Parts: sequence; C-alpha cells; structure tokens
Amino acid sequence: MKAVLISGSPRKNGNTEFLLHRCIENFKKADIETNLFCLSKMHIKPCKACGSCRKPENKGCIITDDDFSSILQSMIDSQIIITATPVYFGSATPDLMALLDRAGYVSRGNGNLLSRKIGGPITVARRAGQNFTYAQLLYWYMVNDMIVPGSSYWNIAFGKDKGDVENDKDGLTTADRFIENTIWLAEKLYN
Ligand SMILES: Cc1cc2nc3c(=O)[nH]c(=O)nc-3n(C[C@H](O)[C@H](O)[C@H](O)COP(=O)(O)O)c2cc1C
Repeated sequence: MKAVLISGSPRKNGNTEFLLHRCIENFKKADIETNLFCLSKMHIKPCKACGSCRKPENKGCIITDDDFSSILQSMIDSQIIITATPVYFGSATPDLMALLDRAGYVSRGNGNLLSRKIGGPITVARRAGQNFTYAQLLYWYMVNDMIVPGSSYWNIAFGKDKGDVENDKDGLTTADRFIENTIWLAEKLYN
C-alpha cells in the first residue's frame, strides 16, 4: 500500500511540513510506503484551461516543463492521498490549488483516475480560516469520487512561526486520529 502526502506551503520546514512528517511516522508504523512532495521545493504552473488533457490523443496535461507529472503519477500509483496547506487569506495556497486543479481535471477527463482513493486535507493557520480551507479541499476530494475518513475533530491546527504547531496538542491528536482512521479504512478496502 502506498500513501502520497503533499504539502502546499511555499515555506520550507514549516508547520505544514511538520504535520505531514508526523503523518508519515504513523503510516510507517503500519508498513505503508510514503512519498512526500513539498511544493516549497517544486514548481507547479496553473491550469491553462486549454482542454488538451481531454483530447483522446493526449491523455495527460500538455504542460510538461514543471513538476506536475511526477506528483500526478504518484497520486495515481497510491491508494492514499493526503494534502496539507497553510491558510492564506482564508484559502488554500495557490501552489496547492494549481496542482489539485490540474490533477482533478486530468483525472476527470480520463476515466476518473482518482476514484475511490482514500484521503483528506489538513489545514494550519495562525488564527482563522482553517475550517473554510478544510471545506475548500473537501470539495476537491468529493467531486473526484474519493473517500474521506473523519477524525476526533476537523483536521485543523494552529501555528504561526515555524514549529509552532508542535504545541497545538489538539491539532496533533486530530491529525493522528485522521491517519489512524485512514489506515483502518485502507486496510479494509485494499488488503
Ligand atoms: C500570505 C499569507 C497569508 C496568511 N493568511 C492567514 C489567514 O488568513 N489566517 C491565519 O490565521 N493565518 C494566515 N497566515 C499565517 C499562516 O497560515 C501560518 O503562519 C502557517 O503556520 C504557515 O504554515 P507553514 O509554516 O507551513 O508555511 C498567512 C500567512 C501568509 C504568508
């Protein structure tokens, strides 16, 4: 079983990446192979709405001079897809949305490549906007025919400066339970 984890933060080693490293520890304990993509180290161009990915002769995104195709391939090869983002003005980062817009459009235009994959979002912010951003990303999972497990709370955390999120015990407990439920479900569906 494979899990891909995607950090939408442009900031290296920040709170979003911290949360995903914690998720990876939990996946490893369950012998699930992990692949982490940090958009802080990658470049994803936005969707051009050219429609090329929906033409039978193409079968993929026409933009090839960025890091999109390697991440999409990992999403297709994985049973579990976890996304995490800092909140920027009440929303997910444009970096993450560029990836998800294109992944969703390619998937839906080519036989729903992401169907029945398991996963969900985690959001982190200094003060406000986590719930809205969590809901924003849930829309992406749901319209892409995916399955999202719950947790002891919504998957949100608090933190401003790098490492702050380590002190948000409720946020960490919620993320841990979310991954525990994801593993529980994935083992029932895929083993
Ligand atoms: C451009 C920008 C916009 C932000 N907007 C919000 C916001 O709407 N609400 C909030 O509580 N924090 C906001 N923040 C704070 C970040 O969400 C917070 O610092 C977060 O922990 C950053 O995660 P990272 O360390 O993974 O990059 C914003 C930060 C930046 C740089």
